[in-house]
Amino acid sequence: MAAAEKITPTGDAPIQFFDLKSQQASIRGALEERWTTILDHGRYIGGPEVDECEQKLCEFTGAADAVVVGSGTQALVMPLIALGYGHGDAVFIPGFTYNATANAVLLAGATPVLVDIDPKTFNMDAEDLERKIQRVKANRNLRARAVMPVDLYGLPADYPALQAVADTHNLRMVADAAQAFGGRQDGKWIGTLAEITATSFYPTKTLGGYGDGGAILVRDKEVGDLLRSIRWHGTGDNRKESIRVGINGRCDSIQCAVVSEKLGIFEDERQRRIASAKIYDKRLVGKVEGQIGAAGDESAYGLYTVRVPERDSIRAALQEKGVPTAIYYDTPIHQMPAFEQFSPPGGLPECERASKEVLSLPMHPYLSEDQIHRVCDALLGALQR
Ligand SMILES: Cc1ncc(COP(=O)(O)O)c(C=O)c1O
Repeated sequence: MAAAEKITPTGDAPIQFFDLKSQQASIRGALEERWTTILDHGRYIGGPEVDECEQKLCEFTGAADAVVVGSGTQALVMPLIALGYGHGDAVFIPGFTYNATANAVLLAGATPVLVDIDPKTFNMDAEDLERKIQRVKANRNLRARAVMPVDLYGLPADYPALQAVADTHNLRMVADAAQAFGGRQDGKWIGTLAEITATSFYPTKTLGGYGDGGAILVRDKEVGDLLRSIRWHGTGDNRKESIRVGINGRCDSIQCAVVSEKLGIFEDERQRRIASAKIYDKRLVGKVEGQIGAAGDESAYGLYTVRVPERDSIRAALQEKGVPTAIYYDTPIHQMPAFEQFSPPGGLPECERASKEVLSLPMHPYLSEDQIHRVCDALLGALQR
């Protein structure tokens, strides 16, 4: 069915920012059958659901291998461990992202170097990446090792440009696609756009579980095997003997079952998100600044985000009309107490501006056309006040 036909037809129902209930209703019976299977076989960790989920993730994205893990954060830390990065190693991340990106680098023992964003895409700016690499090289206190782009709100980062810079400086790439499963660039799925891609199954993500979980998608099966060892305390066949340093990075059978079931409805949900975004675009482009990708970019529409002036009053006006909104994020990484020490000289002007202006509108697969128009009416009305 075409994206435009995927909209839920009715709806003066209250508008939800996310809607996990409608989704659950559509798969509840299948999930209950899966619970029974898991309760019967009793392999709560490492059950057959783990292999099934990994296989389905590979089939969907075209990745050579997929390793399911306990969270999106683990999916970022573990590749850095696998690549051997730690003390004295610089990992370049955008300064406008969820705190997990920075925490993951520090948990691996490496140092985050913050890069400004492109104001149109909200994603890492390749030119500023080049400048920040040059600065690290000139300072000689860190080794430039890896770049960790983030696909903010679901929009793929500018992988061609970032990869070109990474290749010039011999950097590896670990993509943070926690918000972007289901996005595409030039016809290729997120999960294949970088050599290693991390994603999250946090319940409100585009492919969410019913608890914590995540996955690492890789181009090289050997890296997948290494990650499987790291996932179980760096062990091989003998689970009690570590042959390298690792962690408990496992994803349990129940989460894998949920994610596999959700993959069955994922394409339908993806089309619904696209259909909703098209209506938002039609009503808002030219009137409100939004997130604009390049020609070959297809957002996963984890979030639909615009920039607004006087955000607090606009938010309040929308709330009055029954339109919930959210802010991702009102503090850039370099202004958070835990990461202030990594603030570059002169700060990160575009990250700072975005943090003051961004406002995310309701986005999920079960919005009705009428509801989206109500959101747009409320927003455009508030902007005219
Ligand atoms: C950009 C980004 N990176 C990493 C994470 C971490 O994922 P998790 O919460 O599954 O650990 C998130 C989750 O919100 C995220 O949005």
